[in-house]
Amino acid sequence: MRFKIGMLIKLLALFAAVLAPCVSLNGDDTKWIRNPDVVYVGTAYDVVSKMLHMAQPKKGDVVYDLGCGDARILVLAAQKYGCRGMGYDIDPERVGASRENVKRNKVENLVQIFQADIFTLDLSEADVIPIYLLPEMNRKLLPQFEKMKPGSRIVCHNYDLEEIVADKSVTIISNEDNASHTLSLYTTPLKLKK
Ligand SMILES: C[S@@+](CC[C@H](N)C(=O)[O-])C[C@H]1O[C@@H](n2cnc3c(N)ncnc32)[C@H](O)[C@@H]1O
Repeated sequence: MRFKIGMLIKLLALFAAVLAPCVSLNGDDTKWIRNPDVVYVGTAYDVVSKMLHMAQPKKGDVVYDLGCGDARILVLAAQKYGCRGMGYDIDPERVGASRENVKRNKVENLVQIFQADIFTLDLSEADVIPIYLLPEMNRKLLPQFEKMKPGSRIVCHNYDLEEIVADKSVTIISNEDNASHTLSLYTTPLKLKK
């Protein structure tokens, strides 16, 4: 009997050692999945504002932020346009920062944040998708964009959809970082360049 209890304790210790890195320390529902495909860099606030303006969101529209960072895009979309927001990030730290930002700005009634790999998502409910991702990520997302409902808008920050025809592209200088930012707007169904 003493042997069995000893074995049980050892087994539990082994489980704890193996599972500990997978469980977040703050007791929430997030865990380490894998390295993000791009590091976090927040879009400057004046650029966020322009991205949303280009997408012309209406009250009640659903905005998906793929790789939401700190959810600044969704917070502004909720505050300024009354949009609902769905934020997704693979990094537990970013999910936590996004949830805090949503709470701090009191838009929990409109914005929800999830930990997810964006390449697994069904985007058919989205009306607006602002993205700030790398070119290869944009390319990999194309099959998901192609399943979006007609009339939805995608706005790319700096890296466009390459072989897709943009409705319009603008370049602005941000007051925040004095750098130029190119924004491209697309409406679904996407049109391939000839
Ligand atoms: C450049 S930041 C953009 C943040 C935010 N959208 C913005 O514009 O302020 C990219 C974000 O994508 C997240 N990310 C990278 N790969 C991802 C993946 N496969 N699934 C979900 N999120 C991912 C990163 O953790 C990071 O927060």
